[in-house]
Amino acid sequence: MKQGCNLWFGLLPALLAVPLTAAGSPEARLIDCAACHGRISSEWRVSSHAAAYTSPLFLHELEKSADSPRSACSCHAPDFFVNGGIGSAPGRRADSPESGVDCLACHLDAEMVAWSDGQEWMVPHRVCADKRYSQAVFCGSCHTWAKDAAADCLDCHMPGGKGPVTDHPGFDRPADATHRAHRMPGSSDPEFAAGAASLEVRQAGGQLKISLTNLVPVHAFPQIRHRRAQLAVVEQPGGRVLWQETVRLAADSTAGYAVELPGGGVPLAVELRLYPLAELLPDSSLLLAREAVENR
Ligand code: HEC
Ligand code: HEC
Ligand code: HEC
Ligand code: HEC
Repeated sequence: MKQGCNLWFGLLPALLAVPLTAAGSPEARLIDCAACHGRISSEWRVSSHAAAYTSPLFLHELEKSADSPRSACSCHAPDFFVNGGIGSAPGRRADSPESGVDCLACHLDAEMVAWSDGQEWMVPHRVCADKRYSQAVFCGSCHTWAKDAAADCLDCHMPGGKGPVTDHPGFDRPADATHRAHRMPGSSDPEFAAGAASLEVRQAGGQLKISLTNLVPVHAFPQIRHRRAQLAVVEQPGGRVLWQETVRLAADSTAGYAVELPGGGVPLAVELRLYPLAELLPDSSLLLAREAVENR
């Protein structure tokens, strides 16, 4: 559905606005949004959205799928899709694929007008409003499973960050203002990822009862299939693995496990680890949770 943008200043924008660039030109991706949105830009630069076309995981998948249509996967270097395209997969763009999912892809339409969930104004460039920016359907354009989710993705993935939306000295904004953070934390942030699941362990007779709950009400843990989550019972000290299991929990669900305890009173620990690049770097993991077990 194409949306209108009811700017009351009608024809004035063309005269007043800072032109964001000539539509469709390769220079389009060189526009410096950072000149005025410095904070948001530095957050985006270290996000997986910025690395969507250059990350080792994507390059690996690209190589594997060279003969299939997936090799043209448009979500990693998307063309303009706002104003009409929200909720369906974007087309693939030809210029500068290495800038990944960038500011232009998510905010500009083919006429170089910036869209957001805010108000329609001139600030100094044109801004049009679309409520779907703060809804799951926007994320669902690419994260297709999210299209119909009744969830506030932004609440967890784009929380309010310190500092105003615009930080160019020419615009006098209150220093205590906040902006939607663009770092998009996921499994690359151990502290964030640890919030996804809670681990409970108790000893009952000769058994260890382990229960793992996915605290995220709207998506699986781990969300992406390329990542692996693993529960393990290990000896302390030394870390010899006595039992392990790969886990994948549906949204808002709990899984239970019973493990026979070894005799001899060896102290143990139950560990939950996430292997973010399970196929590429099988030994590289993040420790999300650990519970010590006395085993007496
Ligand atoms: C010359 C400075 C300048 C440049 C360059 C600039 N912006 Fe802006 N932009 C602003 C100002 C000022 C606002 C209004 C927000 C505020 O009051 O601080 C704004 C608002 C926005 C909004 C709406 C925020 C809201 O209120 O919801 C979006 C989206 C946006 N800009 C995106 C971009 C993108 C994408 C680029 C690069 C293609 C860009 N801007 C380049 C100054 C700039
Ligand atoms: C235009 C397509 C597109 C849109 C729209 C989009 N994403 Fe993404 N997102 C991607 C791609 C591509 C990646 C990189 C995945 C990879 O290769 O690891 C990604 C990565 C992420 C990651 C980190 C995953 C990781 O592998 O570290 C999170 C979290 C995320 N997106 C959340 C969101 C949320 C929340 C929204 C809505 C506000 C959103 N995305 C909108 C395409 C998109
Ligand atoms: C209650 C907070 C919460 C909400 C709401 C939420 N997420 Fe997440 N999300 C997380 C956590 C924590 C992780 C990291 C653990 C994992 O990978 O499962 C994550 C992981 C992800 C990842 C994979 C990141 C990676 O690095 O592998 C993507 C993509 C993502 N979320 C997108 C979304 C989208 C889109 C929505 C809205 C439909 C959403 N999330 C709603 C907390 C949340
Ligand atoms: C994956 C899509 C995506 C990418 C990439 C992205 N944004 Fe956003 N941006 C959003 C969403 C979603 C919001 C929150 C809803 C809203 O305020 O419109 C937002 C909000 C904003 C806002 C308003 C912030 C506020 O607090 O009101 C500005 C300004 C902005 N983005 C600029 C940028 C700039 C500059 C870049 C590149 C450095 C960028 N965005 C990259 C999706 C994206």
